[in-house]
Amino acid sequence: MINLKKFSFFSTLPTRELEKLTKQCRFQQYTSGTTIFVEKEEIKDLVFVVEGQLSVLKNYGGEKKTLFNLDPGDVYGEVEILNGTKALSTVIGYQEFQLMFIPKEIYLRLIGLYQGFAKESRDLYSRRASLLLEETENKGQPARVITFFNVKGGAGKSVISANVACMLSRFWKKRVVLMDLNLAFGDQAILLGLTCERNIHKLVSKKSLKLSNIEEQLTLHQPSGLKVLLPPPAPEMAETIRPELVERIIELLKPHYDFIIIDTHNQITDMELKILDLSNLIMLVMTMELTFIKNTKVLLDLFQRLRIPREKVKVILNRAFKSLGLEPAKVEKSLRYAISYFIPSEGDIVVPSVNKGTPFVLSKSSDGSGLLASLRQLCASIAGENTDNGTWSMFALFKEVFGLG
Ligand SMILES: Nc1ncnc2c1ncn2[C@@H]1O[C@H](COP(=O)(O)OP(=O)(O)O)[C@@H](O)[C@H]1O
Ligand SMILES: [Mg+2]
Repeated sequence: MINLKKFSFFSTLPTRELEKLTKQCRFQQYTSGTTIFVEKEEIKDLVFVVEGQLSVLKNYGGEKKTLFNLDPGDVYGEVEILNGTKALSTVIGYQEFQLMFIPKEIYLRLIGLYQGFAKESRDLYSRRASLLLEETENKGQPARVITFFNVKGGAGKSVISANVACMLSRFWKKRVVLMDLNLAFGDQAILLGLTCERNIHKLVSKKSLKLSNIEEQLTLHQPSGLKVLLPPPAPEMAETIRPELVERIIELLKPHYDFIIIDTHNQITDMELKILDLSNLIMLVMTMELTFIKNTKVLLDLFQRLRIPREKVKVILNRAFKSLGLEPAKVEKSLRYAISYFIPSEGDIVVPSVNKGTPFVLSKSSDGSGLLASLRQLCASIAGENTDNGTWSMFALFKEVFGLG
């Protein structure tokens, strides 16, 4: 019998309910290419993907566009069921796949009975409703460019940018490109378990660069759907990449993606100045060491002189709460800048994930951890779901969650 507990969608339900569910629900195996719902059809069940991959397509003026994909563990139908509407899209499987059909009444009963499950459904609904209910194609805003930066190594720029990019792509269903602009010593290929055949260096000699040239050099990170622009395969090639090329790449990608996430090298040259200028949001990553505090302060002063708007710069305190002797509140005071995000130090989760090349947000090892919760909060605010930037109250909340005095 299938073990539903291992899927996060069901993880808040008690075992007896899950056992009941496996008996009450219909399971069905399909061949590749089968259509499950057609737009405007009545929906009687919530569909849970047990195996395989499906695409959710919507018709805009006679043309079908893929809104997002469904992987094992994903569900479809909550927006229609909770909204009382007919199918808002057409769902087709592109591999052999297996589905579980949860009758509408049973789904609604579980929402009524279990708060955790209701929250899970509400979160899912709020992520997808606007996309599905939109009548006209949401061409949307151009991508927001988000850069993770500091001039000192070891802050966690690469680890955090990789995990944020994966999370936005996999769980928020955003179209994301991660650019590893640590051109000589980039870590993203290792962090994501990718090979460097496709990389930015292949764009250097292109006369008139087009979007299709860039797309050809993006490496797909299968587990998350994220696309990655990797650095040149050898460090000596780094200097062939000019800031103008990076600017052109960003310009061409912007209309076609929701987010461009940039990982940077620990320096400030023309390249980094160009990247900072092109960024909508600069995430200044630091840890609670005096050397980091000093460097971050110097950078914040420099940003001021460069007239980079304050609201464009957010400070992330990584590996928070395990360092000795310094308190976040004192760090804020000495920086004269609010810390917007706190990420706890959890080496037991981070180090194995780095060594395996599997971002921790995609791995079971981070389930229920403060680390995952902090990344979720960071992504939610990047994706525009929560507007809270109340740094002080957030710090109080974290103190409560992590039991810090
Ligand atoms: N929150 C964290 N908890 C534990 N270890 C971390 C955390 N963030 C980063 N690390 C460790 O710090 C190392 C350096 O992080 P990295 O992202 O490579 O820094 P940067 O890119 O800023 O130089 C990582 O390999 C990882 O082992
Ligand atoms: Mg790095």
